[in-house]
Amino acid sequence: MTLHHFLGKGCLRLGRLIQSLAVAVMRPDDLVRFSRETYQKSDSIAYWCSDEFIASGLYAPEAALLERLPSKQGRLLLLGIGGGREAIPLAQAGFEVSGVDYLREYADAAREQARRRGLHIETVVGDIAKLDLAPASFDVIWFSHAIYSLVPTRQRRIAMLKTMHRTLTDQGQVVCQFHWDPTIKKKKTLTGLIKGLAFLTWGNIHYESGDMLWRNSEFLHAFATELDFTQECVAAGFKVEIFQIFPGWLRGGAVLIKEKN
Ligand SMILES: C[S@@+](CC[C@H](N)C(=O)[O-])C[C@H]1O[C@@H](n2cnc3c(N)ncnc32)[C@H](O)[C@@H]1O
Repeated sequence: MTLHHFLGKGCLRLGRLIQSLAVAVMRPDDLVRFSRETYQKSDSIAYWCSDEFIASGLYAPEAALLERLPSKQGRLLLLGIGGGREAIPLAQAGFEVSGVDYLREYADAAREQARRRGLHIETVVGDIAKLDLAPASFDVIWFSHAIYSLVPTRQRRIAMLKTMHRTLTDQGQVVCQFHWDPTIKKKKTLTGLIKGLAFLTWGNIHYESGDMLWRNSEFLHAFATELDFTQECVAAGFKVEIFQIFPGWLRGGAVLIKEKN
């Protein structure tokens, strides 16, 4: 290796290190805004709402999670509805579907996709971590795609799950999907550096190992162990009935049931 080759590789490494610090200097609301800006771009909307993508329906592991639910009837709240890829098969399976998205463009597209198929779905425009929902109003709550991981900070995710706990009927269930990456090593020096920067800038002061800006386009928290995920559910009053990792994919899914208060 020549000196110049070595310097070039060093610059790339330094660039990656500097990029990884971006997640530290943004506050949780900034991280949400950052992801939202990505979804608001016209190419994102075109991708997630295209007829071809919507027609692709549930991915095989999602269909398997659906099969694990005891009933396919009742009211289902879908968090992060996008263009309706999951909403349509869930409505066709028998659920009365209401979908949430923080961008009106997606909510409108999903309703239109459903209407074209003779289905009706309700939509709400809002942030899934800030919903004000009537108690015991849904039988199933479905965290679409890996949306649980899009919510920054453990505290916010637990508070959101507590809201979902109140929103579910007594026998209600949650299907929760998340980003999974067991290779995230607990690199203590890097974590310390990022936390230090977060405090210095008063940014993401609740930074945890696993927080990242995925492809520099959206915030994600990756879970590296089953325990990390389960502890958040238990703190919100749920029991994890099923936990599974989607083979060959950085994704996992779980079915949660309400523990009695
Ligand atoms: C990865 S896309 C998935 C769309 C759809 N569920 C699918 O799989 O085809 C994530 C969707 O969730 C929405 N979203 C992301 N974070 C959200 C939040 N905090 N509150 C509400 N909607 C959110 C985005 O606008 C986008 O439509």
